Amino acid sequence: MRFVLLCLSLTLSASPSRAQETLGLKAPDEVSASGLLQHILPRFSLKTGIRVIADENGEMSLEVNPPGDPVFSRDDVIYHLRTNDNKRQARFRDWLLSDIGKRTVESYTPPDGTPFTASIEIAAIVEDQSISGDVTLGEELSMTHCGRCHVIGPQNRMNGLGSTPSFAVLRAMPDWSERFQAFFALNPHPAFTQIEDVTPPFAVNLPSPIHPVEMTLDDLEAILAFVTALEAADLGAPLQFQ
Ligand code: HEC
Repeated sequence: MRFVLLCLSLTLSASPSRAQETLGLKAPDEVSASGLLQHILPRFSLKTGIRVIADENGEMSLEVNPPGDPVFSRDDVIYHLRTNDNKRQARFRDWLLSDIGKRTVESYTPPDGTPFTASIEIAAIVEDQSISGDVTLGEELSMTHCGRCHVIGPQNRMNGLGSTPSFAVLRAMPDWSERFQAFFALNPHPAFTQIEDVTPPFAVNLPSPIHPVEMTLDDLEAILAFVTALEAADLGAPLQFQ
């Protein structure tokens, strides 16, 4: 099962022709305004030959809430880097988390306000990992199982089916949790969804019309954790101006 999932997600994330494209990074206004990105991005590019530019439609983003890797903080706000399953994006994340990356962040003195720090308190990191463990798995599973129809987030903004509600829209419904917990019983899913030990097998005369979604209750729980974490985005992620 894990192997099948892996193959699926590899196929989904393979985008051969994009190898040398510039990576875009979306950041909260206060980070963009601080000048930090203009300081760190060229230094990363110099080291690696991978070009990263500030771009509000970027495939990577810095967010004030999990999920994501906590990369630096300022004035009690911890910024999380969200990346996709992509080698070059992983390289940027690893660099930011490396000693050199951290030193580059901390060597920057903004014209206004407090400098950024990259030595984020251990407590904060541990706490974040306990959430993001499941959330990260849930994100992968959502991408694999739901992302071919639903827009689950910036991860597949362009790939969902227009007629299908996005996860953000569903998440904004007051009873989103019940809907997600029971999605496999709600149309159109029963025709193509199998939850191990929960749903009856497809009727012999009614096989799944499309490649079926096959998952376990644990998988669904991880997806719920991921959808729970989408909350901040729905509220328009209020920026924390000082
Ligand atoms: C083959 C396409 C497809 C896939 C795959 C798919 N969905 Fe859906 N889903 C839909 C469509 C279409 C609707 C809208 C149905 C409607 O409005 O009547 C929907 C609606 C929903 C709803 C709202 C249901 C309701 O009645 O309120 C939830 C929750 C949901 N999907 C969750 C999921 C989850 C979780 C996954 C992945 C595990 C998933 N879907 C996979 C097509 C899909």
